[in-house]
Amino acid sequence: MKNIILIGFMGVGKGSVAREVIKHSDYMAIDTDDLIESMENRKIKKIFEEEGEAYFRSLEKNVAQWLQNSVQNTLISTGGGFYKQKNLKKIGTVILLDSPFDEIIKRIKKHPNAARKLKKRPLLADLKKAKELYDERRPEYIKLADIVIDVTKKSALECSKELLKKVKKHA
Ligand code: S3P
Repeated sequence: MKNIILIGFMGVGKGSVAREVIKHSDYMAIDTDDLIESMENRKIKKIFEEEGEAYFRSLEKNVAQWLQNSVQNTLISTGGGFYKQKNLKKIGTVILLDSPFDEIIKRIKKHPNAARKLKKRPLLADLKKAKELYDERRPEYIKLADIVIDVTKKSALECSKELLKKVKKHA
């Protein structure tokens, strides 16, 4: 089993899909943002506020190197900007969770914890800027992905089943 790396824009549902995949497969899962928060013992939002984005990106780079050297058979969900790591494709099979920007925002807003979900993501604070970031990143996400899953209007469970089917075919 090669690693699976979930990439995609903030709020597209990488964490939720990962949780369903581990319920229905032998994969274990880790999350790059969680690794960074535990290494630093502070939240992503705090790291951005106190150190700036460049510092956060350097932590992502360290995580990417560690993943490549030391992690196997694992489902790795990533922060929305992690795809920029140069060794991404060496870590495992890259799976893009894809959805239009408006659908992603709708999805976040209807979540019971919507306010918290928006607050913890510094790059979602300004929706106009976030849309620009989405437009810039989407072609890059598509280019890197070995597998694309359109998650629009699908439950995390449906997405996880589609993911496992496509991974099997891709192997
Ligand atoms: C970021 C996405 C966030 C987190 C950080 C930066 C980005 O992760 O890594 O706030 O650059 O898109 P999620 O995609 O889990 O929100």
